[in-house]
Amino acid sequence: MKSKHLADCGNWILKRFPLAKLWNEHMAHYYAPKNFNFWYFFGSLALLVLVNQIITGILLTMNYKPDAKLAFDSVEYIMRDVNWGWLIRYMHSTGASAFFIVIYLHMFRGIIYGSFKQPRELIWIFGMLIFLCLMAEAFMGYLLPWGQMSFWGAQVIISLFSAIPIVGDELALWIRGDYVISDATLNRFFAFHVIAIPLILIMLVFLHLVALHEVGSNNPDGIEIKESKDPFGVPVDGIPFHPYYTVKDIVGVGVFLFFFSIVIFYMPEMGGYFLEHDNFIPADPLATPEHIAPLWYFTPFYAILRAIPDKFAGVIGMGGAIFVLFLLPWLDRGPVKSIRYRGGIYKKALLLFVISFFALGYLGTQPATPTATIFARIFTVIYFGFFLLMPVYTRWEKTKRVPARVTHQPTLEERIQDLKRLFDEVTVKKPVKTAEGKLVLKRKPDPDGLKKAGIRIVKKLKDSLD
Ligand code: HEM
Repeated sequence: MKSKHLADCGNWILKRFPLAKLWNEHMAHYYAPKNFNFWYFFGSLALLVLVNQIITGILLTMNYKPDAKLAFDSVEYIMRDVNWGWLIRYMHSTGASAFFIVIYLHMFRGIIYGSFKQPRELIWIFGMLIFLCLMAEAFMGYLLPWGQMSFWGAQVIISLFSAIPIVGDELALWIRGDYVISDATLNRFFAFHVIAIPLILIMLVFLHLVALHEVGSNNPDGIEIKESKDPFGVPVDGIPFHPYYTVKDIVGVGVFLFFFSIVIFYMPEMGGYFLEHDNFIPADPLATPEHIAPLWYFTPFYAILRAIPDKFAGVIGMGGAIFVLFLLPWLDRGPVKSIRYRGGIYKKALLLFVISFFALGYLGTQPATPTATIFARIFTVIYFGFFLLMPVYTRWEKTKRVPARVTHQPTLEERIQDLKRLFDEVTVKKPVKTAEGKLVLKRKPDPDGLKKAGIRIVKKLKDSLD
């Protein structure tokens, strides 16, 4: 009887709302390439972290006070007196860093598989707008605890706007709402952080996914699966998103939550990288911290800003480092999408870019000594070189032939078999005398096997770069 009522209720809704149609179009009958690998976890993980930030953010807001006199203490109150307040705050602060880790990996996946190329330019543009919003969201959120780094970090970044000729000073004043960072600044940052930017972010994520479902996902081979369909119009290299990828994504979520929990419970400050030590001191407008640095996710761009001697040119350089990413779909003239079929020049250029991004990230956390500044300049040139020379080297280079259908990737079982074979190759069974004087066979490293396997792996790595 009960189930009949439930069915009636379901039918009542279905007659008035296209729930089944939406589910089928975007989940059960949405065909995604069958060769997704672990790089494809990061989209769903970004959604998960977004939800985490919104829920923990709402809970934090229930006890946080956006008032320059009360803000710092209200955060301490959340940490010490509110039931589970410490957990909610650490989930939010760790979530902020996790968001950037996931997004940087998500963007990198797009770069290695050419997911920004035609016909997915709009997905990329919406993604970049999301990235800009995320940066603004993180920057404004960081002022809210009203610690020393909140105050002085905001001071440094807002003062950058005053470097803009003619309108600069007025603009900085307009952003702060006061001549110095004050209660007025805190209030407006709170409004933006809590409601305005999250609304824009959610809307952009929606548009990002609508654009994705219009053209369909790319894949590690960079092949359009819609080009090979069976007589029923189903892509032969596609599988329904639900249940295959919903289940696969749950595995990704499990692995992510494992590491996320370790950070939250055992190292929430992450050695000052996720929560800076100076931010446990209340904001003091009269005492400048010895070394002001933004959180790790901004440091590559901060290093570029400091590498350029003129302040205004530095601001342009920093903005340009982000803006140039918007142009990626038009800078890349290569005929193939995936890194698997690109030539050696692109792979080497990408390697240099990754090295320069990490190096700039590290340099941005360090004081700007003369030597550090020289290195920052070199890496800034490499960073921009990767993008600005792209129209040239992607057109020149010799690419590999792209197969018509997606390629077979080894299954987990095959990979385990490979590992077993490697283990057999690099070890050898040798007779060893036990304490009782018996001879037993024990596995020992085999220098010849190790050498052979080493040479093979280095050769494989070299081939993949050529
Ligand atoms: C809140 C942030 C974001 C969320 C929730 C999100 C979500 C997703 C999801 C669920 C997918 C499909 C699954 C997948 O391909 O992994 C996807 C695909 C994609 N995203 Fe994002 N994304 C975000 C930010 C970004 C950013 C910042 C960029 C780049 C600037 C970006 C670029 C792309 C591209 C190019 C694809 C298509 C990938 C392909 O088909 O190979 N996304 N996104």
